[in-house]
This record gives sequence, C-alpha cells and structure tokens, in this order.
Amino acid sequence: MGELITEAISIGWPAFAFLTGLLVYCQVRITDPVQRKNALFKTGIGMLCVFLAFIAIANYKNNFYGESRLLPVSLVMITCLTYIMGIYFTNIGALMKIGGAMFFVAAALSGYGNWLPQVEGGFPPPEVKLDFQSMTQQQLADEGEKIIFGGLGQSKVQGAIGKGQCPLCHGFNQGFLSERAPNLWGIPDRSHERLKHELYYMDNPTARPTVQKEAFDGSGTATNGQEYIAESHACPSCFVVPGFGVKGTNDTESPMPRIHKPPISLTLGELAAVDTWLYVRQGMEAPTYDEIEVSYEKFVPEADRPQASEGDDAAAGGVLATGEEPITDLFMKAGCPACHTIPGIEGATGKVGPLLLEGSNAPQRLKDPAYKGHAQSTREYITESILNPSMYVVQDFPDNQMPKDFGQKLSAGAVNKIVDYLSSLKQGQELPALEAFN
Ligand code: HEC
Ligand code: HEC
Repeated sequence: MGELITEAISIGWPAFAFLTGLLVYCQVRITDPVQRKNALFKTGIGMLCVFLAFIAIANYKNNFYGESRLLPVSLVMITCLTYIMGIYFTNIGALMKIGGAMFFVAAALSGYGNWLPQVEGGFPPPEVKLDFQSMTQQQLADEGEKIIFGGLGQSKVQGAIGKGQCPLCHGFNQGFLSERAPNLWGIPDRSHERLKHELYYMDNPTARPTVQKEAFDGSGTATNGQEYIAESHACPSCFVVPGFGVKGTNDTESPMPRIHKPPISLTLGELAAVDTWLYVRQGMEAPTYDEIEVSYEKFVPEADRPQASEGDDAAAGGVLATGEEPITDLFMKAGCPACHTIPGIEGATGKVGPLLLEGSNAPQRLKDPAYKGHAQSTREYITESILNPSMYVVQDFPDNQMPKDFGQKLSAGAVNKIVDYLSSLKQGQELPALEAFN
C-alpha cells in the first residue's frame, strides 16, 4: 500500500499541486460564506477523488505487465470516481459521465479478458529444477562448469568461482601452480594411481593413518577411479594427499570441506555434473550419470544427501554476494567457511585460515610490532584483511592462501555486514544474535 501511495504521488503531484492552489484560492477570493463552504467542500471531494484515482492508476501501472487480476479493479475504481466527481461538479458533469462510461467499457473488456483462463505464453515459465539425469554428457559438463566457476566459459577466467567454491583452493589448468590444494588437471587419470598409494589402504581402511577411516561405518574404500573422486568429495579426510593436510596434523586431516554438507551442499546431481566436467574438459569420456550417482551413493548415506531447492541456479556468477542475504547465507556465498571457523555460523568449520574471533584478534594484531598496515580500529583491520590479505599475515599461516579479489567479488554492503558480524565476536563472550545481522 505504501508503495502505491508513493507511486500515486509521483505520477499525480501536478494535479495535487493544482488542487491545493484551488483550495487556497477558494479561501481567499470567495467572500460569501455559503458559497465558500460549498466550494471548499467540493474541492475536498475533488482532492479525495483525484487521490484515489491516482492510486488506481498506480495500481494499474504496477500490475500492467503482471498476471494480476487487480487490473480491472483499478479501472472500476476510476469509473466510480469519475461518476462521483460528475455528481459534485455539475458544470463538468457531462464530461465526467462520458469519461466514466469510457472507463466502464475498458474495465468490462479487460475484466473479461483477465478472468478468462490465461492463454499460454507471454509470461516466463516458472522456474524448473534442473534434470541432471536426462542431460547429454556435454550439457552435464556445462552445468558442472557453471557450478565450479559460476558460468559457461568461466573456467578460462582467472578468479572465476561458482557455488562449488573449488577454485578457492584448487587450480584447474595444466601447469598452474596450486599451493593450497592439488591441481585438478589430470585427476581422471591420477585417481586410479591414488588407489595404489601406500597410505590409501584399499583393503583395510581401518589401518589408515587419517582421523576418519571411512566415509561412514562400513562404507569401505574406493575401488575405481570414479569412486576415488566421489570419496574425495564426500570424505576428504579418508585419504589426505601428502603435504596438503591441515597444518600440524601431519596429513591426517584434510582442510577440504565435505562437498555435500554445508556450506557448499552440492546435490548428487550437481556432483555428477562437476565430475563429468572434470572428464569432458580433458577430452575424455565420462562415466554415465547413473554410474557417477552410484559412486556417490557408496559414500553419502541417504539421510545426508542434500535435496535440490527450487530455483537453485548453478549459473549464479558475477558478484558473489550483494549484502542483502541473511548473514549465514552471505558467509556461505562468499566462501569464507571453506577456510575459516566462524563462531555462530553453522557449517563454518574451515581449517585453512585462523579462527575468526576478530573482536579479540584484531586488537592483538594491531599491537603486533610486525603490523605494517593502515588500520586503526578493529573494523578497519577486518576490512583490510578481507580486501588486502597480504598486508598482514597471521603468524603460523602462509601468505597467499586467502584469495585477494574479494574486493571485486563482494559488494561494499556485503563487506560491511561481514565486518559487523566478525567484530562482534569476542573471546569468552556470548555469540551475537544472528537475527540482528539479517
Ligand atoms: C578449502 C579448500 C578446498 C576446497 C574449497 C575444495 N578443496 Fe578439494 N582438496 C583440498 C585439499 C587441501 C586437498 C588435498 C588433501 C586431501 O586429499 O583431502 C583436496 C583434494 C581434492 C581431491 C583429490 C585430489 C587428488 O589429487 O587426489 C579432489 C578430486 C578434490 N579435492 C576436488 C574438489 C572439488 C571438485 C571441489 C569443489 C566442489 C573442492 N575440491 C573444493 C582443498 C579444497
Ligand atoms: C582459501 C582459503 C581462505 C578463504 C576462502 C578465506 N580466507 Fe581469510 N584467511 C585465510 C588464511 C590462510 C589467513 C591467514 C593468513 C593471512 O593473514 O593472510 C586468513 C586470514 C583472514 C583474516 C585475518 C584473521 C586474523 O585473526 O587476523 C580475516 C579477518 C579473514 N581471513 C577473513 C576472511 C573472510 C571474511 C573471508 C570470506 C569473505 C575469508 N577470510 C576467506 C584463508 C582464507
């Protein structure tokens, strides 16, 4: 309703200004008290009618392109209003009656058209869930590229990233130096080799040196290349590629998030798309959709399989987060939980970077003689850490791990909201209420 009123005023302000002028004119120029009362009354009715008429017009305008059935209602309103004005303003009564009759015909016609069953076409079809199963291999690979990189053709673009968030850590191109995680070029072939690794323990998973021996009790290990890829996604800590474990765990724990769990939560269909892309882009024949699905079913129990949500859009690329989303979604979209543990944010258990208790950490960092940045306050420190991570590198963590392009990927509003939340996290204090940041 508020919207309609502002819209009505923005269209109808000249008319309102004119009528206000008329009101003042009546007050000043008409001396006979009876006539004056009469004129004031009429102007009042006139203003009310014009106001309602503009509300009706605003409603008409707002709903013109929609499927709304309110359109004829606005026309009926205008019709009634013109008749009322016709009754009060006898000198323009005839004009008003003619206008009213025209609006009446328009209302009747549009009402008739509008209340008939809607004809197909003209309106965009409702959002449909992607049906991964019935796609061709190339279509599936295209969806995979969108999930990993945020759009078709984006795999060639430096820094491109999609909801799968893999490029936060992995390089994908031949010869590309990938320090945080193995380069995934060649993974369809390498996956077979991994099964022969001395620490893989294909026949006896309980002998594995890792914190997690199996994806779930009794799931067993991978027995072919595709299963190795599925297990890597579903249970990264089942086997940790030497040299890439969480710092200080001696390669017994992987920093990679489980891809079917929050924050990333890819469905089995989406995982199949991702894997298909990994094969197809190397010119290889991928396993069929069904084979890939079966490989995931081996490592992801039924209850843990995320369901596709309506309107999920793999292609959501461009700006990662606008700042409009609730704080948890905002963090998930931005990708911070893949690397950081963030108190109060479900699923944010990343171990690549420090625990983000910034209300307590930031003041410590600013006191560090090694700090050479420009921040003066906690908020400034956090902002600087996001936009320019190398300005100060937290002790015991490597430089160049945190992406440096959040400045281009997050809107200013998003960065602000993240900074608000992180600065409210303090050692030994209660967690802030999430609703305050939504
Ligand atoms: C937070 C960083 C991070 C993210 C995000 C991440 N990974 Fe990983 N990934 C790793 C690390 C580190 C390893 C190596 C340690 C291990 O074996 O778990 C790894 C291992 C793998 C392996 C096994 C590689 C090999 O050479 O054996 C595959 C396959 C893989 N990741 C795929 C993916 C895909 C696909 C995505 C996105 C859907 C993804 N990862 C997201 C960090 C990450
Ligand atoms: C690929 C992993 C990765 C991702 C993704 C990532 N970070 Fe980091 N971050 C790190 C690492 C490693 C460090 C420590 C080294 C350094 O200071 O640069 C760090 C440091 C920080 C610090 C400084 C912490 C302190 O206590 O001084 C802040 C703040 C921070 N990150 C915020 C974020 C936010 C917010 C996001 C999401 C928008 C994010 N990071 C995404 C890896 C990551």
